Amino acid sequence: MNFKKLLASALTVAMLAGCSSTTPAGSGSAASEGGEASGDAKTYNVGVAIYQFNDNFMTLYRNEIEAYFKTLETDTVKYNVQIVDGKNDMAEQSNQIDSFITQGMDVIILNLVQTSSADAAIEKVMGAGIPLVLINREPLGDNGDESYAGILDNATVCYVGADARQSGTYQGEIVAELPDKGDLNGDGKVSYLMIEGDPENPDAQYRTQFSIKALEDAGITVECIDDQIGNWDQTKGQEICANALAQYGDKIEVVFCNNDAMALGAFAAIDAAGRKVGEDIYLLGVDALDECVEMVNNGTMTGTVLNDAIGQSHTAVDVAVKLLNGEAIENYYWVDYVKVTKE
Ligand code: BGC
Repeated sequence: MNFKKLLASALTVAMLAGCSSTTPAGSGSAASEGGEASGDAKTYNVGVAIYQFNDNFMTLYRNEIEAYFKTLETDTVKYNVQIVDGKNDMAEQSNQIDSFITQGMDVIILNLVQTSSADAAIEKVMGAGIPLVLINREPLGDNGDESYAGILDNATVCYVGADARQSGTYQGEIVAELPDKGDLNGDGKVSYLMIEGDPENPDAQYRTQFSIKALEDAGITVECIDDQIGNWDQTKGQEICANALAQYGDKIEVVFCNNDAMALGAFAAIDAAGRKVGEDIYLLGVDALDECVEMVNNGTMTGTVLNDAIGQSHTAVDVAVKLLNGEAIENYYWVDYVKVTKE
């Protein structure tokens, strides 16, 4: 914990100490004014803003946020969770944050549409005295790392996520561990198509970079045949892969997709082109959606990487509850990725 956090949490504790010692468990500093008490029960209002509902992975994530909050309810503590759809539109999401503030949310969980708007969002939410848990889309610090000032300098702001470098590395390692190391045509190099997520998102940047780095680190020569942006979207993944296969045909040995949704699209294109995963092409995704794990096991996908929606959503909720209870928090919380290959 940095000094500011320590100081701020000490202040919170001092403020808490000033509160009545009969305050029931679960009603902390931030929320002791915000949470609504009725009889013995206290209800906390939780605002959750998702970048867009139309996203397979974030759908799992948000459903689990809701379900997990329910499991934490007791006779005396309730969570009124409101989840809103940013529709991939930053202006829309900004209005939703304003509305959360007007409604007096006790804590906000925010999956930004654009990480470039992190400062504006943090400023608004901090200005309203509401604690904030950022999820899934990490605003990077000036050095492109985990040193984002808005997170380091505010005691009640943190980021919960998974380190996308790890997922990219795992994708590359899965290929490097194949008997032919991804070189299906034996020409001494791995020729690949990269299908990227939203380029503003570090998950897309890191997966693109680290999947190839892992191959190079394993001493494998690589050749980028094509690299296109599919914005995490299944239909776009399909279009990109279909076009690349039509243009470059057998030259493409490996299709790396930054997520499983795009890999599902790529698979449809591979299938339509009469190619066979595992025989004349390899296909990689990230997320480990149920249907993709099934595909890995039946050989129609080469591998994927578990992006732990359950671990991340539970961590985000646990941290939100800590904030509601006025407890000190860390700046960053990380949940590991897991390699998924055929059982
Ligand atoms: C997931 C993608 C998802 C994106 C949304 C990534 O971590 O792997 O499937 O579309 O987050 O920001």
